[in-house]
Amino acid sequence: MANKRIYLCLAHMSDEGLEQKYIKEAFDTNWVVPLGPNVNGFEADLEQFVNAEFGMRNAECNNGDSAFRIPHSALNKRVVALSSGTAAVHLALIACGVQPGDEVIVQSFTFCASSHPITYLGAKPIFIDSEKDSWNIDVGLMEEAIKDRIAKTGRKPKAIVPVALYGMPYDIEGIMEVANRYGIPVVEDAAEGFGSRWKGQVLGTFGDYGVLSFNGNKMITTSGGGALICPDQEAWQRIMWLATQAREAYPYYQHEAIGYNYRMSNICAGIGRGQMTIANDHINHHKHVFELYKELLKDVDGIEVHGNPDERYDSNFWLNTITIDPSVRVKGQENAYKTVVQGAVGGAAGVVHATESAHTDCEPNDNVEALRVILDQAGVEARPLWKPMHKQPVYKDATAYVNGVSEALFKVGMCLPSGPYVTDDDVRYIVDCIKSAIV
Ligand SMILES: Cc1ncc(COP(=O)(O)O)c(C=O)c1O
Repeated sequence: MANKRIYLCLAHMSDEGLEQKYIKEAFDTNWVVPLGPNVNGFEADLEQFVNAEFGMRNAECNNGDSAFRIPHSALNKRVVALSSGTAAVHLALIACGVQPGDEVIVQSFTFCASSHPITYLGAKPIFIDSEKDSWNIDVGLMEEAIKDRIAKTGRKPKAIVPVALYGMPYDIEGIMEVANRYGIPVVEDAAEGFGSRWKGQVLGTFGDYGVLSFNGNKMITTSGGGALICPDQEAWQRIMWLATQAREAYPYYQHEAIGYNYRMSNICAGIGRGQMTIANDHINHHKHVFELYKELLKDVDGIEVHGNPDERYDSNFWLNTITIDPSVRVKGQENAYKTVVQGAVGGAAGVVHATESAHTDCEPNDNVEALRVILDQAGVEARPLWKPMHKQPVYKDATAYVNGVSEALFKVGMCLPSGPYVTDDDVRYIVDCIKSAIV
């Protein structure tokens, strides 16, 4: 038994306590509001991070060959810091002109925040399954879906939302090629992919908009928060306006459109400024943890560590994931799902829905659940992969274009601890637990 609990990805502050320094400054100068010097400073840091030609630490990027990279020294993206990544998705969709009754293409294999804002707008998600290698949106299926939607409704989808699941890049060149051909804007959901790259370029900077999340479990945190990467000054101004209740320029409140209270607090942004000083250390740590899992699990039959499909992909490995073949027998798997779980995944606050049965019609295999329970009892937090949105009861009536990939992965996959507090010894301990759980 580990003498500490090992979590998937806990918030980790800079050694110098810079986060507290910036928060103190906010209090000392009475900027305890959702705007101010920390918000501006954090946005400037984020702009530098996403626009830097090859990122802040060029040499540490996976692919050192500059000929291979996409040249983009002209990048001049603007960033708005927001109260959450979900708010960023919501505003990006509004900026793309999504209205009630419209259809929006979205990756099915994702966390609900990629698709819920579509429904907030009274629009309809069109779920697209994943490709086997990256686990992200299948570009061929996506194009088939676009053609089919145009044939069936006479209108093209209003936006495309690919998702960097667990930090893994999507085939952004393929996506952009199809999106440009049909004239459909792309909202990159890089909430989990902060600092992940495609051919050296940071995710979130290819599409029309890019979503980032700084929730407590993300690559860097502001406790809760997010940001929207905008294509230019004009788009940035519109997002800023929408995020601050769409106020017109009068000495009194004058509203000519519906806005939102989505701007980031100056306190949270203070945390963000401190976090930016260690962002690259975090990313490098997650990548290191990936290498260690890969090495230590390489001889275990039936267990695969999910890695970059080829050299174009440069995942931040926000969460490291494994798949467990159904042939792997795990101790106690005959008793899997005998107990009803109390509370929600991730300990979400305010969970009041008790459930009667431990089963749903689509759930991880018994060996995966048995391994999760064994790890839990050994002090290790592990989690099933995200259940695809097209298998969620709340989306039972939504249109989906499926190939079986995400459902199959959901049944065999598991997320393992990957964050800054996870030491090499922890990874060895976790792998030992996995090996001894196998019969
Ligand atoms: C894929 C994805 N999109 C969007 C979000 C929303 O971010 P937030 O929790 O900051 O609202 C998250 C994370 O929580 C996510 O994992």
